[in-house]
Amino acid sequence: MSDWITVAAEGDIKPGKCRLIDVDDIPVAVYNIDGQYFAIEDLCTHDGGELASGEVEDDEVICPRHGARFCIRNGKALTPPAYEDVYCFPLRIENAEIQIRDDRWD
Ligand code: FES
Repeated sequence: MSDWITVAAEGDIKPGKCRLIDVDDIPVAVYNIDGQYFAIEDLCTHDGGELASGEVEDDEVICPRHGARFCIRNGKALTPPAYEDVYCFPLRIENAEIQIRDDRWD
């Protein structure tokens, strides 16, 4: 997935909300934080929890399995039991569409 892929229309995801999208079999959680969009892989680095169903506080998501927190803006692991960051996808708005790409394998 090295090309830009449209995951939603701008405005489809309301502030404070998240949409889970499957892109090439990779689960991607797309968030709207105060009108800015961010996309992280929906896979907790502790033990594979689904972050998209976790509670959001400000710009942090709390893994529903064991409570690790991640920064939605950059994927940083903020609290144990997770110590590795989740992948944060490059994201852009193009023609009112939210687009992401995966540059891990470029
Ligand atoms: S699976 Fe997410 S904190 Fe354990």
